[in-house]
Amino acid sequence: MSTVTTAAPFPAGPAHPVSAGSASGRTVPVGVVADSAVASSAVLGGDRLEALAGFYAANLTLRPRFTRGSRWARRVLAGPDHEAWLLAWLPGQGTELHDHGGVARPAAAAVAVVSGSLTEYTVRPGDFPGLRRRPLAAGEVSAVDDRTVHAMRNDSDAPAVSLHVYSPGLEAMRTYLLDETGLAPARIKRAGEDW
Ligand SMILES: [Fe+2]
Repeated sequence: MSTVTTAAPFPAGPAHPVSAGSASGRTVPVGVVADSAVASSAVLGGDRLEALAGFYAANLTLRPRFTRGSRWARRVLAGPDHEAWLLAWLPGQGTELHDHGGVARPAAAAVAVVSGSLTEYTVRPGDFPGLRRRPLAAGEVSAVDDRTVHAMRNDSDAPAVSLHVYSPGLEAMRTYLLDETGLAPARIKRAGEDW
C-alpha cells in the first residue's frame, strides 16, 4: 500500500549506494525534477530488473554487515548492462532524495528487500510536489525508472537488507532538497568519488 503526503522537509542523509559525506559534489542550479533533454540510456527494462533483483536476492552468498555510521554497501556484481549492490540498514539509516544519473547517463533500478523492511519515498512531480510513501517488506521488489527521484529509509526498529540492481551501472546521482518551496537539485555525486 502506498500513501501520498504533502511536501515537507525531507531529512538529509547520504544517497545510496553509500556516500563519503564529503563536500566533493557539484552544486547545480535549481530547476526541474529531470532534464527532458537528457536522452534515456537505461538498458534493461523494469520487468527484467525486478526479476534480476529478486533472483540475486534469493541467491546471495555474501553476508551483509551493519555499520553504525552509515548503511553498509557492497557491489556484488558488475556486468556489461547492469550492476548489483547489497545494502544493509540499521534502524533510522536512509538516503537523501536522489535520482540515478545526475545529468548524463541515468539508470533504471529495482530494489528487492532481502530481510527486514524499508520505506521508499518517491517524489510526485507537479506544481506542489509531494511524496509517495511505500512500505516494502521482505520479498517485495520495487522498480525505479531512470527519471524517478526517491529515497529509501529503514523506518522500522529492526535491521534490514536490500539488493539493488541498476541498468546501466550507476555512474552518478543527483540529490535533491524538498521543502515547502518545492523540489530543488542539490549535488551531483559520482562513482569513484562519493562511493
Ligand atoms: Fe535509489
